[in-house]
Amino acid sequence: MQKTAIITGASSGIGAATAATFLGNGFVVINIARRPSPVEGVINIAADLGSDDGAEEAAGACRSHIPEGASQISLIHNASLMLKDSASTCETQALQRTLSVNVLAVNTINRVLIGAMAPGSSIIYVGSTLSEKAVAGAYSYVLSKHAQLGQMRATCQDLSGSGIHTAMVCPGFTDTEMLRQHLGGDAALMHDIGSQNSFGRLVKPEEIAGVITWVHASPVVNGTVVHANLGQTER
Ligand SMILES: NC(=O)c1ccc[n+]([C@@H]2O[C@H](COP(=O)([O-])OP(=O)(O)OC[C@H]3O[C@@H](n4cnc5c(N)ncnc54)[C@H](OP(=O)(O)O)[C@@H]3O)[C@@H](O)[C@H]2O)c1
Repeated sequence: MQKTAIITGASSGIGAATAATFLGNGFVVINIARRPSPVEGVINIAADLGSDDGAEEAAGACRSHIPEGASQISLIHNASLMLKDSASTCETQALQRTLSVNVLAVNTINRVLIGAMAPGSSIIYVGSTLSEKAVAGAYSYVLSKHAQLGQMRATCQDLSGSGIHTAMVCPGFTDTEMLRQHLGGDAALMHDIGSQNSFGRLVKPEEIAGVITWVHASPVVNGTVVHANLGQTER
């Protein structure tokens, strides 16, 4: 049986590292993002997940790479938009943009693909430490990451008995483009953020890829949240 990993946002960071890991494990790997994956051998489906049509067309295009009813699929919802905003200033349009990529596209892709997933498949949500707590200045992101947690829990209940399991992997501060952008490219701040855990360094994207791979192979974690943050120090 073909094993397929469908990863949103495998064009950089955690998604690209996850694509490389699944490819190395013999999976057909599909990237859904605006840019192609830097990982050779990945099938790229160009899409802007900020538009519902984009998500629907991309998920539909994935089906042409999947043998009908006979593919174990790991569907990894990894792409996210992170804006700087707050409860007192967040514009409706900005919230809509964030929810489109982080929540609505997830729903669309699930709706199109779940019917093609054989038992042994998984749906993995890449959440965040901010799926379960909040910090100032990331209002729409925090809101959307909490919503993703609800999506994962509801997915678990609705797919009960299907042989498909789901879980949320919550990375801590990880050395990627998203974190660098959020910190305005400030290297000193990046270093300071990296020191806020018991190992005194940023998480590597490959470490999160390893956790995602393990979650796919472990139906026992169905419905759970797996934190991967090197023991973040609470402040
Ligand atoms: N880095 C961290 O410290 C950290 C911490 C907690 C959670 N996370 C989570 O980890 C996941 C991966 O993030 P990362 O850190 O690896 O960041 P990244 O390197 O910036 O990757 C983000 C990915 O999302 C995709 N994406 C964003 N907007 C998109 C859109 N409109 N349409 C299609 N794809 C879109 C990007 O692809 P294109 O630009 O090519 O479209 C890119 O591949 C996210 O869910 C993030 O919330 C990261």
